[in-house]
Amino acid sequence: MKKVLAGLVAVAALSTPSVALAEKIVIACGALGQEADVCKQGAEAWAKKAGHTVELMSVPTDAGQQLAQFQQLLAAGSSDIDVVRIDVVWPGIVANHFIDLKPYFPEDVLKQHFQPIVQNNTVNGKLIAIPWFTDAGLLYYRKDLLEKHGQKPPTTWQEMAQVAQAVVDAEKKAGNTRLVGYVFQGKAYEGLTCNALEWVDSFGGGTIVDSKGQITINNPKAAEAIDFFAGLIGNVAPKGVLSYEEEGARGVFQKGDAVFMRNWPYAWSLANAKDSPIAGKVGVMALPKGGPDGKSTGTLGGWQLGVSKYSKNPAIAAELVKYLTSAEEQKRRALVASFNPTIMSLYKDAELLKANPFLGELYDTFVNAVPRPTITGAKYNQVSTEFRNGVHATLSGKGKAADNLKKVEAKLKKLGKNGKW
Ligand code: GLC
Repeated sequence: MKKVLAGLVAVAALSTPSVALAEKIVIACGALGQEADVCKQGAEAWAKKAGHTVELMSVPTDAGQQLAQFQQLLAAGSSDIDVVRIDVVWPGIVANHFIDLKPYFPEDVLKQHFQPIVQNNTVNGKLIAIPWFTDAGLLYYRKDLLEKHGQKPPTTWQEMAQVAQAVVDAEKKAGNTRLVGYVFQGKAYEGLTCNALEWVDSFGGGTIVDSKGQITINNPKAAEAIDFFAGLIGNVAPKGVLSYEEEGARGVFQKGDAVFMRNWPYAWSLANAKDSPIAGKVGVMALPKGGPDGKSTGTLGGWQLGVSKYSKNPAIAAELVKYLTSAEEQKRRALVASFNPTIMSLYKDAELLKANPFLGELYDTFVNAVPRPTITGAKYNQVSTEFRNGVHATLSGKGKAADNLKKVEAKLKKLGKNGKW
């Protein structure tokens, strides 16, 4: 009987290819703020339409820990996951485990996305993932508190520190002792790499490793930038930042207990949600310059969706990726959760610009975001780890930046000999 049934099913599948059997597709979506919920809504909408089911694989909030989880699964050739969310810095590390999506995505669909991201997702001619949303570091601030104390949004980091101090002091006098000046991602993880790259680049200290593969991090401007931020710890920035990820910083800011916060665009819709104590009181701007001669810069972040080579249903998984990365779904995600689209035309969408004015106002920040040094290919994660450990040591008072950066340089030299990665 079993055999007869299996035979019938096989014949049915062959003769009516459009009526596919219901399959379960497992996707890992991300865990910051409302990421999992918003992803689930999209994936379930697709499943209903397509006649399949979806399951979410839960992942840690720390991007590096996520990478470790996937590397373990993929290295074992596991078919437990079909669709993987890939960080903008991972293609060079994980490309081998993903199918080429070119056969599923016509050129005209790919052309709608920011082309540098599509290129970044193309490894040795293989398109391993489709852009889903893009990120750049931004400065959030309490419009109401700045106005109340006659302060203006800062143009340099130094001004940021002064404004933060002035507002904290004035509020303290009025009995508000919980308020801190600045929160950011200071734990020794990928998020600190992003923050510290912004500091260094904004002070004119380069990008750790340059576009030719040369290690540049051991330079006076980079040291000045990192020492500057180390100097904020324990006064403008609470010591707690040394263990904050994105959500740690957002927790403090959203409770109303910080004047400034560095975070990604996703924090906007949460800060302004109905149940947020600071709804309507928040401003968002490009990150400040590292002094009058510095520049305003934000680290390029963002996520893509790829299909595992070990998936038992790669074609169906690719359909889910197509749905989630479509203009319609990207617009929905931007409206409900301020995830920045990767489809260029959405930056002109009136409804979206109304919900997230910063999409238009900070467009230049997004398109000029500074990439992390992925020229280091499969070694990027090690490079990032060495860099942020050196930064974290400095922030924790373990040595001056110049000495720590010298040590970072020596470690990087071992990883990439003569600029060859
Ligand atoms: C955000 C960015 C991602 C980055 C991560 C670090 O999720 O989009 O690119 O690696 O933060 O915490």
